[in-house]
Order: sequence, then structure tokens, then C-alpha cells
Amino acid sequence: MSLFNDVEKVLISETELKERIAALAAEMNAIYTDDDLPVLICILKGAFMFLADLTRHLTFRHELDFMEISSYGRGTTSTGAVRILLDLAKDVQGRNVVIVEDIVDTGNTLTYILRNFAARNPASVRVATLLSKPSRRQIEVPVDFIGFEVPDEFVIGYGLDFAEQYRNLPFIGVLKPEVYQRS
Ligand code: IMP
Repeated sequence: MSLFNDVEKVLISETELKERIAALAAEMNAIYTDDDLPVLICILKGAFMFLADLTRHLTFRHELDFMEISSYGRGTTSTGAVRILLDLAKDVQGRNVVIVEDIVDTGNTLTYILRNFAARNPASVRVATLLSKPSRRQIEVPVDFIGFEVPDEFVIGYGLDFAEQYRNLPFIGVLKPEVYQRS
């Protein structure tokens, strides 16, 4: 059966994503200059598509690095236990850092990431997230650039997964509850 059959509805279309990401990039273009030479940190795996589209709209010089974090396992709610699966290649001491996340849900993962970065003594840290679920927040966490606020539903596509699948969907969709109830 096609993976599209597991989608209950499209929450954010490809066109909406494209337009909003261009607008987010414009916000960042108004803040950073070549001299800032920020490092964008893509939080894997969920943010890979967002980062790929965002970086193409940025007009200031910047560098990229990648960090893989695991917080979910196979379920649809955070376990609260956060682990670094792949660490940065770069030393970010004294650098301007932009954390690029897919979604801020409870805020646990981002809180962990921000604490971890604070220990690396960067010059500045800002956060860009494609999605935010404010109704689920357990910890207040600062986010500088937010693509879309979404309701309390489990979303997939455009990099976001359920059990490592559906990341390739070109839109943000809501997964049919029977898909995660049966697994
Ligand atoms: P938090 O620690 O609860 O804020 O969760 C953050 C991480 O959980 C994100 O980086 C995602 O990888 C994952 N996540 C949270 N909500 C969703 C969702 O609706 N769909 C897919 N992944 C999610």
C-alpha cells in the first residue's frame, strides 16, 4: 500500500512550505552579515530538508554542520531521554551558531541542545525551527525563527518521520492514528 494512504490530511502544502521558508530566510538575511559567518547546525535527521531549502535562500556567507540527536525511539511521544548520536565536526567556540530544528514539541530536546551548546562557548546562539507545537510545551525554551505553529497532532513528512519512515513526503501531513496504534 502506498505511504500516501497512511496520511490523514495535508496540514502544510509544498507551496506553503516554500513560501514560508523563503520568508524565514529573509528574516535571517536581515540579521546576519558575511562578517558574522554563522554556522548553521542541522539537527538530524528531521531537519535535513528544511536546512537544504533554507540554506539556498540565505545571502550571507555561512557554514554548515550536522548533529544527530535521538529522543523518540519508535513512539509518538518524547521519552525525555536525549542522546547525541553524531557530534559536530566543527569547534563552535567564538562562532555565531544557528540551530536548525524540525519541530519543538515538549521543548526537552532543544533545552538539552542549548545546554550542550552553551558549554562550547559560542559567540551567539539562535534557533530556527520549521514547526512548533506550543500546546505541548513542558519547558519554556527560546526560539528565534518559527516556520509554523501546529496543533497537537503527530505530523510527518518534509524530513519528519514516524519510525524512520515518511521523511520523503514533500508536505507536512498528519498520520492516521491507526498507523501508530497498530505498530
Ligand atoms: P521535544 O523534545 O518533545 O520537543 O521533541 C523534539 C523532537 O521530537 C523533534 O526534533 C522531533 O524529532 C520529534 N517530534 C516531536 N513531535 C513530532 C511529530 O509530531 N512528528 C515527528 N517527530 C516529532
